[in-house]
Amino acid sequence: MSNKILVVGNWKMNPETVDEAKIIAQKTRKTAAELSNTEVVICPPFIFISDCSPRTPTSNAYMGAQTVSLFKEEEAHTGEISVYMLRDLGVEYVIVGHSEERAQGESDEDVSKKVNAIVEVGLNAIVCVGESVRDENGQYLETIKQQINSSLSKISLKNYKNVVIAYEPIWAIGATEAMKPEQICEMAIFVRKTFADVFGQNAAMKVKVLYGGSVNAENASDIIKIGNVDGLLVGRQSVNIQGFSELLKSVDV
Ligand code: PGA
Repeated sequence: MSNKILVVGNWKMNPETVDEAKIIAQKTRKTAAELSNTEVVICPPFIFISDCSPRTPTSNAYMGAQTVSLFKEEEAHTGEISVYMLRDLGVEYVIVGHSEERAQGESDEDVSKKVNAIVEVGLNAIVCVGESVRDENGQYLETIKQQINSSLSKISLKNYKNVVIAYEPIWAIGATEAMKPEQICEMAIFVRKTFADVFGQNAAMKVKVLYGGSVNAENASDIIKIGNVDGLLVGRQSVNIQGFSELLKSVDV
């Protein structure tokens, strides 16, 4: 992973057709190629990954997946997708523990197994953590700490370089406003400190911490600068070709 700003586009269950998917991927890659200090990961639904992959690698753009199955081995697992399949398609990043997946039953234990499977095969895990509410007595900090500790509990020290932490307060996902950049800055420090407790100070200085939740072309630059994060996890705006292109250019300074 380079030192550039990392912007991850989580397409979720969009778009409806493969033709639209190919266009979004092509245009995003075209913008990415013009950036100097920013890299982009596009995470289409599984079914579009092959069609959205470039024939030859293009600069500043990588393929990602929105999740992976819990199972690694080739056994009887109807409907599941393994880390090996993703790697074979050229996927380099995999989102894990997104709140929408956690809401469908993905547990901390599942997240930790998936993170381990991802990094063991040489891919990068984008581990999502975030509180559902901000209570006054700071219980949300405990929630984040617990999510980070359990998500990373199975990985060895040598593999921490393949981990990215995406802090996404659930209340800011799909909302009208992102978290305030000043608050994001505090949370980024907290995430890094928690990471340091597991992997040490040196690793914590290097790990990429992203923010996600209602990021758009208007707020992205302040979130990076004032929020002091290494990148962004973008949902809705990542399938808005014009909006995403503006967002990417705005952070690429
Ligand atoms: P949003 O989604 O940008 O649409 O709020 C973010 C996410 O779910 O990762």
